Amino acid sequence: MLLSHRIQTLSPSITIAISSLARELKAQGKDILSFSAGEPDFETPQGIKDAAIQAINDGFTQYTAVAGIPELLEAIATKLQRDNHIHYAPTDIIVSNGAKQSLFNLFQSVLDEGDEVIIPSPYWVTYPELVKYANAIPITIETDEISGFKITPEQLKNAITAKTKMLVLTTPSNPTGSVYSKSELEALAAVLKETDIIVASDEMYEKLVYDIDFVATASISDDMYQRTVTINGLSKSVAMTGWRFGYLATPKKELIEAMNKLQSQSTSNINSITQKAAIPALLGNVDRDIENMRRAFEARADEAVKLFNAIDGISVLKPQGAFYLFVNIKDISTDSIAFCKALLQETGVAVVPGIGFGAEGYFRFSFATDITTIREGIRRIEKFINQQKN
Ligand SMILES: Cc1ncc(COP(=O)(O)O)c(C=O)c1O
Repeated sequence: MLLSHRIQTLSPSITIAISSLARELKAQGKDILSFSAGEPDFETPQGIKDAAIQAINDGFTQYTAVAGIPELLEAIATKLQRDNHIHYAPTDIIVSNGAKQSLFNLFQSVLDEGDEVIIPSPYWVTYPELVKYANAIPITIETDEISGFKITPEQLKNAITAKTKMLVLTTPSNPTGSVYSKSELEALAAVLKETDIIVASDEMYEKLVYDIDFVATASISDDMYQRTVTINGLSKSVAMTGWRFGYLATPKKELIEAMNKLQSQSTSNINSITQKAAIPALLGNVDRDIENMRRAFEARADEAVKLFNAIDGISVLKPQGAFYLFVNIKDISTDSIAFCKALLQETGVAVVPGIGFGAEGYFRFSFATDITTIREGIRRIEKFINQQKN
């Protein structure tokens, strides 16, 4: 057989499948409104572009240390202390090609065959796939609107077995927008206390929160600091998806060494230009741009939630963070793939089926697009739903 067993366990991303169908229909001349993107519709702030141009003009174009240049690792450590009140040394940090590679490095470095990884559902599509690729087993915990799409300490306790190696927390969450408060994290921390479970805390959307303070998982207690691997990046909060910049931090030296080894034998350092460009973003030089984006996202979220909740048969919670709405369509359809395909084909509106995130009877609507398009998209969705009912 040509393909490895391992690669055959990987499923293609549902997000990408819908985006491709949308692109195909667009190429055929159809009027497509896409709400499937997982990236901001804003441009990277000028201060970052300038730092990149400067790096090119300075000839900063060679290989660097695998984990990143010292001034970049210093800037990340400064950021984690300033914004999140967590102390990491520069040597506790590895920069990778997006947080996706950070997660890949982590899973490959700690998971063995048969290990269990607890993943709250709805989840970001990539986690179970990367867990399977490491021959480990994803164990999902279902959540819904009642808990604000967050796991409870009881649920966590019930999911833990002798094989549990890791818990993945995403705060703020893609796709639900939920954000764990300090007290909610403390309650989960109490359950983990007597265990050896590692927490992978994906904090990619940290800067995009609405009416709630973001709290970093590792900042909760010394016990949580020791067991948590903090994962973050600039793709979402600074509109830098194409630059490929993510990082993780852990005080566990052995783990850092292992991941450095893996990255040195696979991709080596990330792009040298991106490393220089990331520094002003981490040091707060583009904070005003970030705040402008956050405000624009919040205004869109408010309006989109109001418009969706006015539609009979569907409902949505206001997200506490990120730029997605996870829309409940259980009264209309429990086949989210069929629903989303029909919606796309008949109205030109692209959203992502909930089943891709582990939850049937929902779709994910990204509001990383302008308000006029959002209004028109929701108008078309309403019309489509009313037709379904007749
Ligand atoms: C929750 C979450 N984590 C990580 C990522 C990966 O981001 P990147 O690899 O661009 O840093 C994404 C992107 O969609 C995400 O939604």
